[in-house]
Amino acid sequence: MKLHPRHYRIRFLLDLSSTILVPQLCLVAALTATGFSYTEIPVFSRFLLHFLVVPLVGWLRICWDEYNNARLAASFNAVSIPRVQGKWPGNLDIAIKLVKSMHEDYLMQFFADLFEEYGSHTLNTRILWGDQIISIDQELVKNLLTGAGPDRFHKGYYWQERFEAFLGNGIFNRDQEEWRAHRQIARPWFARERVSDFNIFEKYTDRTLNIISSLKTEDGTKTRAFDAQDLFARFTLDTASEFLFGQTLNTLMLELPGQGNHAVKMGPKGSAIDDEFGSFAWAFEDVQIKISTRMRIGNIWPLFEFFHDSTEKSNAVVHDFLRPLVDKALDRRNRRHIETDEEDETFLDHLARSTEDRDTVRFQLLNMLLAGRDTTSTLLSFVIYLLCCHPEVTHRLRAEILDHYHNDGRPTLENLKSLKYLRAVLNETLRLFPPVPMNSRLSDSPCAVPCTPLSKAHATNSVFIPSNTTILYNTFLIQRRKDLWGEDAEDFRPERWLSDRIYDADVDGRTGEENLLSKVIRDGDGLERMIQDPFIFLPFHAGPRVCLGQNFALNEASYFLVLLLQRFKSFELAEDSMPEGSSPPLHWRQRKSGRQRYERIWPKSSVTTFVKGGLWVRAVPA
Ligand code: HEM
Ligand SMILES: *[C@@H]1O[C@H](CO)[C@@H](O)[C@H](O)[C@H]1NC(C)=O
Ligand SMILES: *[C@@H]1O[C@H](CO)[C@@H](O)[C@H](O)[C@H]1NC(C)=O
Repeated sequence: MKLHPRHYRIRFLLDLSSTILVPQLCLVAALTATGFSYTEIPVFSRFLLHFLVVPLVGWLRICWDEYNNARLAASFNAVSIPRVQGKWPGNLDIAIKLVKSMHEDYLMQFFADLFEEYGSHTLNTRILWGDQIISIDQELVKNLLTGAGPDRFHKGYYWQERFEAFLGNGIFNRDQEEWRAHRQIARPWFARERVSDFNIFEKYTDRTLNIISSLKTEDGTKTRAFDAQDLFARFTLDTASEFLFGQTLNTLMLELPGQGNHAVKMGPKGSAIDDEFGSFAWAFEDVQIKISTRMRIGNIWPLFEFFHDSTEKSNAVVHDFLRPLVDKALDRRNRRHIETDEEDETFLDHLARSTEDRDTVRFQLLNMLLAGRDTTSTLLSFVIYLLCCHPEVTHRLRAEILDHYHNDGRPTLENLKSLKYLRAVLNETLRLFPPVPMNSRLSDSPCAVPCTPLSKAHATNSVFIPSNTTILYNTFLIQRRKDLWGEDAEDFRPERWLSDRIYDADVDGRTGEENLLSKVIRDGDGLERMIQDPFIFLPFHAGPRVCLGQNFALNEASYFLVLLLQRFKSFELAEDSMPEGSSPPLHWRQRKSGRQRYERIWPKSSVTTFVKGGLWVRAVPA
């Protein structure tokens, strides 16, 4: 029997009864079989028996699973994944440390420390005796996502259960046939002409830049501080909504945090204010944060939401916001009987042709909106953050842009491609701060997955993965591994992406002889490493579920950055404007290595990466 993901309560009760009730039945059966009369046992002993049989049966089950898995692993000629050895039973101390670390430490610090401590790129955390694999082995990830992997590993039931009320039967939340059907419907929409509709980019880029310009101070040397993360999320949302349903949500027209009468406060992610869009955005982010809490709690999350789905209120806000848009599109379709792929057809019309069901259309749309908004605005936010920290990169990037377009030319699809340094900056940002930092898959049967050998002592290079096991693979950490990217893996160095060394030397002329020499030698090393093994760089995922919006996102971000740098020559972090509690904590500075020693913002993640409290900056007009 397969449960629908919306029935998380039933699933939880079934799990609970299998843990608690089944042992009781075993107990009664065992007593009967051995001839004991149940009623003759003193009440206290009876109680004790009922109590003790739960861990006993649990323990027997674990032993049986271990025996079985060891046997299977041997038959596959695969190695068992090393286990994290906590101090408390069920590795509860590890679970507690994990939660604590998520609140206090640098993004993914806890995992990074575990991998280092155990000297392995793949580990089994075994929290509450359940296998849970975490990995930063690019070879393992490759085999999860490509080849036979996608037939065995899916997002799976537990993922769907957590997202069901929010993403419903959308593309992100389904596997196999249902997913394939969605993918087939969506793919033609992302054909080349559509994702390079630069009119849409132009319209919203202009609006966004006008907002930034309007913040200029009296003397015009700088703008006032603003939350770039919030602004970019509005930009990408307005752009995506016009691209997807031909009608913008117009969130750029509304009041920004810190500009009007509403007080700035800490939102679920960045800064927030109370107005109509504020409520939608707040709800949209709130749901994501609640869902990532479920992920951290693991499969017992329904225990905390048994009588009340914690995402209910925010989900209602999000869906109430979208419902009228969907209704309008469906009515339009009914009036016009659109049969063919018409010139001015929107994604919403396109969807509406494929199904009658209003809920399905709405969920599909919401999935796309999530995909289109947060990821791209994350990319833009971190580009600006890194430009704030690296004026020399800003300088060089701006030189490239002015060289191609002067200070008012507009890019086209063809000539955007020749902005090599811009693309290097985007790649380098996606490497250090991938918008989707961690992802997971669930195995549906026991299997051996090829990987890099766990250690020199291991002859075989496959690990055993039991059935029904979650694998969390961490793009964020893979893309910062020193053995894969070089000693300076944690540094922001766009030059590592530049293959054309002579071209580099020209532009670099102004950075000084010595610098030039060392740079010329190292330039392009990252690109070379990636060409040798493309799985060390996976910001857009790989295999059959690779990102559909990659070109759209890169075109959008590139277009925006060209116009931005034509108008502004540099950016400064406005540390004085960051909401309380969002500055990086002092204890980060005491670490021996890693970016956290000098990071000036607090990177966090829910489903996507973001800057805690928002990215507060000032722009310097050209
Ligand atoms: C910098 C921006 C972006 C990044 C880093 C990014 C990254 C990703 C990643 C990692 C996945 C794989 C998710 C998984 O299977 O677990 C994905 C899937 C997807 N992305 Fe993107 N994305 C970006 C922008 C966009 C945009 C702008 C759109 C659409 C307008 C989009 C549409 C999609 C869709 C539809 C999928 C689902 C593919 C499937 O499951 O078959 N993405 N993206
Ligand atoms: C799968 O594993 C989870 C724990 O990781 C457990 O709660 C669940 O009962 C298992 N389901 C099946 C069908 O074995
Ligand atoms: C950026 O990364 C992509 C892979 O996602 C690669 O194909 C491309 O060559 C890289 N370009 C530059 C300039 O770094």
